[in-house]
Amino acid sequence: MSAKRLIGVDDFIERLRSFESGLITRDAVLDLCSSVQISDSSLSRYVHFDDAFYTRNLVYRDELFEVMTICWQPGQRTAVHTHNGQLCWMISQRGTLEVVDYKWLGCDHPEYQNVIGIDCLAGSDHTQLERLKSTLATTDGPVLTADKLQTIHQIFNHAESRDRAVSIHVYSRPIDSCVAFDMENQRCYRRELSYFSLYGEVQPKAAPAVAPSNLVTLGR
Ligand SMILES: [Fe+2]
Repeated sequence: MSAKRLIGVDDFIERLRSFESGLITRDAVLDLCSSVQISDSSLSRYVHFDDAFYTRNLVYRDELFEVMTICWQPGQRTAVHTHNGQLCWMISQRGTLEVVDYKWLGCDHPEYQNVIGIDCLAGSDHTQLERLKSTLATTDGPVLTADKLQTIHQIFNHAESRDRAVSIHVYSRPIDSCVAFDMENQRCYRRELSYFSLYGEVQPKAAPAVAPSNLVTLGR
């Protein structure tokens, strides 16, 4: 693999935005993400840890792209979740995460997927998911993706790792909610997503998600 180019996150976002004039494909953005190393110093204001939950820290957002860091204490994990039919790229910046992919086999309300703007209404019982594979996300490993064909996964920073982890996530389009799965009870539900910090500013806890139209004006 050729050497990665060290750039600041602002430069990375400029390069991402260059895709906005054409088609945004998984592989084109994957090539960009795989070819660069984003400097720790440019990310420092977007790195915040919390003992209660992993943190989602917004770096940039417009109509087509959302860029955030996610900061994980040992033992923190996501629910099994979808990506609202959007594309996602995950760059490991620090530490090691485990990503477990799942396949949707069926549920008692598949017709709930017939909706515009979100991937599913959710609210089904008897959801069947098949665990497909587990991948370690490491700083020297490949950039991982979620896409329209592989949209369900769960991410862990295992307690045994003892290391904090930081990952950079790019979404296109931005995702304001997703479907999360209650694996024990085979149920799924829609979950609204929020940010721990916006553009470097930690938000009051339990603040409602900011509407996308406001976010654009808050941006660069
Ligand atoms: Fe995800």
